[in-house]
Amino acid sequence: MNILLLNGPNLNLLGEREPQIYGTTTLPELVQLVQKRARELKAEVRAFQSNHEGALIDELHQSRRWAQGVIFNPGAFTHYSYALRDAIVATKLRVVEVHLSDITKREPWRRVSVLEEVCAHRVLGKGVQGYLEALEWLTAPGS
Ligand code: DQA
Repeated sequence: MNILLLNGPNLNLLGEREPQIYGTTTLPELVQLVQKRARELKAEVRAFQSNHEGALIDELHQSRRWAQGVIFNPGAFTHYSYALRDAIVATKLRVVEVHLSDITKREPWRRVSVLEEVCAHRVLGKGVQGYLEALEWLTAPGS
């Protein structure tokens, strides 16, 4: 199974960005952890991060025939990007929305996800572990 691991804006600063909220694991470390677990599950993971909405949309488009699932932390785009929402619908990709923090327990504007409805599953507030949970959910037979 091919999985796209997609991270949105500011997630390149993981490890140094508000570690009390997002933890101390860096993005390269996170990618390594997901890739290691993917090898055990016989899945192939391609990782991409961008601070730009259009680049994330392009990546979804380009991966639409390759990927059978997407682990996606859209960062702040979660809360307002109808363009990403349309891209998920247009590509018919099976997307798991992942957030390191529990956005339902934070500021009111963060509690809204315009992507939730078009995602197959979501994992919130489990830190880096949440990405592994998303991978396991996508690769589980019959999920
Ligand atoms: C986040 C939550 C978003 O509200 C925020 O803008 C992020 C990270 C998370 O992983 O908890 O960039 O997606």
